[in-house]
Amino acid sequence: MCGIVGYIGNKKAKPILINGLLRLEYRGYDSAGVATVEKNGINVVKTKGRVAALESVEAIDSLEGSIGIAHTRWATHGKPSDENSHPHTDKNKNFAVVHNGVIENYNELREFLGKNGYTFYSQTDTEVVPNLIDYYYNNDSINDDKKVLRAVVSACNDLHGSFALEIISTYLPEKMIVVRKDSPLVIGKANGENYISSDIPAILSYTKDFYLLEDLEYVVLSRDSAEFYDENLKPINKQVVNIDWNASAAEKDGYDDFMLKEIFEQPKSIRETIGSRLTQDGICSIENLELSKEYLSSLNKIYIVACGTAMHAGLAVKPLFEKLCHIQTEVDIASEFRYRDPLIDEKSLVIFISQSGETADTIAALKLSKSKGAKTLAISNVIGSSITREADYTVYTHAGPEIAVASTKAYTSQVVLMSIVAIYFAEILGIKSDLIPELKKDILALPAKVETALKTADSIKTFAKKVYTEKDVFFLGRGIDYAAVMEASLKLKEISYIHSEAYAAGELKHGTIALIEKGITVVSIMTDSSLTPKTISNLQEVITRGAKTLVVTNQDLGDKVFDNLIKIPETSPLISPILSVIPLQLFAYYISKEKGLDVDKPRNLAKSVTVE
Ligand code: AGP
Ligand code: GLU
Repeated sequence: MCGIVGYIGNKKAKPILINGLLRLEYRGYDSAGVATVEKNGINVVKTKGRVAALESVEAIDSLEGSIGIAHTRWATHGKPSDENSHPHTDKNKNFAVVHNGVIENYNELREFLGKNGYTFYSQTDTEVVPNLIDYYYNNDSINDDKKVLRAVVSACNDLHGSFALEIISTYLPEKMIVVRKDSPLVIGKANGENYISSDIPAILSYTKDFYLLEDLEYVVLSRDSAEFYDENLKPINKQVVNIDWNASAAEKDGYDDFMLKEIFEQPKSIRETIGSRLTQDGICSIENLELSKEYLSSLNKIYIVACGTAMHAGLAVKPLFEKLCHIQTEVDIASEFRYRDPLIDEKSLVIFISQSGETADTIAALKLSKSKGAKTLAISNVIGSSITREADYTVYTHAGPEIAVASTKAYTSQVVLMSIVAIYFAEILGIKSDLIPELKKDILALPAKVETALKTADSIKTFAKKVYTEKDVFFLGRGIDYAAVMEASLKLKEISYIHSEAYAAGELKHGTIALIEKGITVVSIMTDSSLTPKTISNLQEVITRGAKTLVVTNQDLGDKVFDNLIKIPETSPLISPILSVIPLQLFAYYISKEKGLDVDKPRNLAKSVTVE
């Protein structure tokens, strides 16, 4: 959940590390710290708070070294405090470590180290790591140039849980060791220098050449080399991967916040997602996803498994898979799926949606599905992310880097891509349906229609100014619109801290309507003409009880009395969430701004959830 940066080269490390931390701060931001190798040993500067707080710590000005590690924390063990901030060291400061992840057996390890004379200053799980490395180093009688590496490997062999680690040591002052297991870490290779980061965009301005690490590959970095070893210290041959993302894609480009920029980028990101997968002539093909008719016909179930917004993308496309492919499709929350002993076998295809490709629960659910014999398909936005290396097939959303914690463009790209995948499967299956040519036309028209939907920004902003002090907001929808309001409600919660609930409109009267009182705000989406009259009746029920209403629709609702009616372009109801969610992404954004909150870095959240 945190951000890790490292540098080893000939430049001063501090500014590079701070710059990297600022770019990674969206991943976790309750504390920050750096450690560099200096002439007098390892110097650590760290503090509770944001990277800006770290920059104002006086001691940071004294860091001159050209090798360093850095961290922005999202606390799992021990509250945010100066002592709990990373880097952590052993008591003699021979080893300094930054860590992303969770050491599940840290209590046992603390006990073991305690019995061997080690003491601890923090409440973190991480602090066992430098001490364990120190323990193994001191208990190794061979004094060769692999001694530190051996100590790191032995320590990691004892760790249960997830970790991405950067380690510097006074015993190896010209090098750095890094390793990962179930937490992200990449190495950017440049001329005479190596950069390390939790994600690619943070170091894209320095290099486009990357080493993508597999679990438990140990890397010994010097300024101009990167040596890779397996757990038995056997050298591994590693290829450089060139990433052709544009570095400016990770900048704000004049927008106040990344979220707003990403909302407005959607016509472009959707165009990129469609790419050559659906041509103007209606030819549909998906790269690296060669599934036969025989295989698809043998399936009795498709599962779509994901978390949060990505799971909502799954809910939005479930009807499409069922209607087009005639295969029963279930959507599951990854953290539930992995523990509910789902009925999976070789007749199940399990699709995992993850923007980051690093979500711990989603990856665990994927491993489980594979072990039960199902084929797995990952839909991800991040090239080379962990999930893409575990899955049998990967298709990328190509939405470009998404930095704001609240996901917007990744969601619409996930729904677009999954819709194309459903069409692709239906065509392989030889299913004839009038829906297919219609949907293709509608998908190709989406970038222009999203452009139009974005024009609702001003009226949404005006409405947001009226309701930003509310304590509760209810979202209602039926069918596909219910899937869309679930996402809209999550957006509002995440960045405005307003309590909100999404309900299937017809379910309200079975209890929740008791909460509706004069002045409360109710938001609804209506894009499916077959369900609109029913939803209107449900809205009448709340208007009668004094609710203020905001309705997003692509239909002509006549002179119905809603406080605010937001018109979006028409499209097939099967893909309507791609358009209907847009005004409500803006709604969440403007409410958060009115409240003066940090839109891109909402409290308690982190961009990629690499812990269970
Ligand atoms: C989205 O706004 C959220 N921050 C969150 O629900 C997110 O979608 C979820 O954590 C899944 O992330 P992933 O797509 O990277 O797996
Ligand atoms: N578990 C560690 C801690 O709480 C690391 C958390 C993180 O990934 O930021 O300090």
